[in-house]
Amino acid sequence: MRAIARAQPNIALIKYWGKSDTRRNLPAVGSISITLADLHTTMSVELEPALQQDVLTVNGQANSELLPRVTTCLDAVAGEQRHCARVTSEANFPIGAGLASSASAFAALVVATDAAIDGDRDRAQLAGLAGAASGSAARSLYGGFVELSKSDEDIELQCLRTAADWPLQVVVAVNAATPKPIGSTEAMELSRKTSPFYGRWVEQQDVDLASARAAIAARDFGALGAVAEHNCLKMHSVMWASRPPVVYWNSATLACMQTVRELQQDGVAVFFTIDAGPQLKAVCEPAATDDVRAALSATDGVEKILMTGLGDGATEFAGD
Ligand code: DP6
Repeated sequence: MRAIARAQPNIALIKYWGKSDTRRNLPAVGSISITLADLHTTMSVELEPALQQDVLTVNGQANSELLPRVTTCLDAVAGEQRHCARVTSEANFPIGAGLASSASAFAALVVATDAAIDGDRDRAQLAGLAGAASGSAARSLYGGFVELSKSDEDIELQCLRTAADWPLQVVVAVNAATPKPIGSTEAMELSRKTSPFYGRWVEQQDVDLASARAAIAARDFGALGAVAEHNCLKMHSVMWASRPPVVYWNSATLACMQTVRELQQDGVAVFFTIDAGPQLKAVCEPAATDDVRAALSATDGVEKILMTGLGDGATEFAGD
């Protein structure tokens, strides 16, 4: 009744922002992401007959804030008649700060819980359960370049290319490792209800998805970077025009964008993306990694640099 799983966060190049069904947590738009290799969440789930309630520990601290979402996810995977669970989560990177920690956490939680009950769900079913807990988590069940399609019924996932097939690198500039001001679930709904750009964002997404899919198929780094930066800035424009505005950037985020622009002008193969936090993720070709790391390290306001390649989807790695 105990299992341990590990999952890596993923970073969207074409973003998921908005839901078509909040109850089932279905995305209003498709998205394409890359799964990372070296950042990860390790999740242990132990179902214990003697426990009176679920217990969650995150990085060594009891956590009651995330517990309701964890309990709902445990119920979805193991059924409401299950024993209570002792859930222990350890991440090797800052959590709740726009580094997709909920994606790796819920992907690992679903895999560990299914293994703890000796379930035999396939990857698509596990992804569906992870996506119900947190939309982006569904993508962390798969490695490499992953597309999550929108659907009114259920989500669908597809690996567009493996990590080994196009081994890009990611340099993360950590600009403030503090929790975000507003969670993405709440902020998405705010955008849907109040942003005048939301409708156009949803309408245009298929065009960006098609461009990204073609760029990935052709391993065209320039084309992928162009559509990824455009899609990222469009998502943040939707957020900024929400009422009240949702602004995740800080001055270091803008300074990092400028650094990436300068690198691009010098012919370095790099592009940026930014999620629900001030961190900037620079995606680059392997040969550019040292230049990108050096330039971002020297940028004002950057606190720390994390480096990673692309990796595989969530896996169980221990159980009894
Ligand atoms: C900006 O997956 O965290 O990172 O489904 O409400 O849990 P919920 O949202 P979540 O949103 C991720 C938003 C994003 C873009 C992306 O990862 O596609």
